[in-house]
Amino acid sequence: MSGLVIAIDGPAASGKGTLARRLAERFGLRHLDTGLLYRATACVLLDEGLPLNDVEAATAAARGLSLVDFDEARLRSREMGEAASVVAAIPPVRAALVDLQRRFAACEKGAVLDGRDIGTVICPNARVKIYVTASPETRAQRRALELTARGEKTDYQSVLADVKKRDERDGSRSVAPLKPAADAIVLDTSDLDIEEAFRVAVEIVERAKR
Ligand code: CDP
Ligand code: CDP
Repeated sequence: MSGLVIAIDGPAASGKGTLARRLAERFGLRHLDTGLLYRATACVLLDEGLPLNDVEAATAAARGLSLVDFDEARLRSREMGEAASVVAAIPPVRAALVDLQRRFAACEKGAVLDGRDIGTVICPNARVKIYVTASPETRAQRRALELTARGEKTDYQSVLADVKKRDERDGSRSVAPLKPAADAIVLDTSDLDIEEAFRVAVEIVERAKR
């Protein structure tokens, strides 16, 4: 049987990254946060003073990407999340990032990848697919806390507006829109803390391994 590929998808601040990181630790697998690829692509354009809808420049940036060139704190800023969702709607940008993600997933032992289209497009044959979600209000609360803890000035209402705008943009784009794969297990974490969500996810993976 091929490696244990675990696809974790879901909207902004649903908790997919935390879950993916912890599952990777637990099952001894590598983890790729695919959102960083789109954030880094956007970062190149912003640094070069180019508009985010410059298709050629965005595609070239995605093709030449090397994550070691970027400061992770900057990539995880609110500005970059918003910018990432603009470049992520450009079909050739997405196409340029497919191989890199699939090569990562092709590791003999398997891998954990989190994003928006892992279960639907990148790894349609993943052994485990979890679609993590939570209400926009819960997600905005979590993201506002997280950004404040990192020293970024934010307020709940504007983070909520960002979250809703990103849900709308990510869900309505023509290529790889955000949606659960038909065979994904939906995990709503609105009323679950990190430990509870992790316990449920571990159960799901254990069951799939049997
Ligand atoms: O952590 P958060 O969910 O806020 O953001 P992220 O996962 O880093 O993704 C940032 C943006 O990149 C998303 O809003 C999507 O537009 C895009 N993205 C994507 O289109 N496909 C992926 N596999 C991952 C991210
Ligand atoms: O990767 P994604 O944007 O989906 O979310 P994350 O970065 O894993 O989680 C966003 C924030 O929510 C982090 O600060 C987590 O610690 C927190 N969180 C939470 O409070 N409860 C959960 N069940 C999951 C995440």
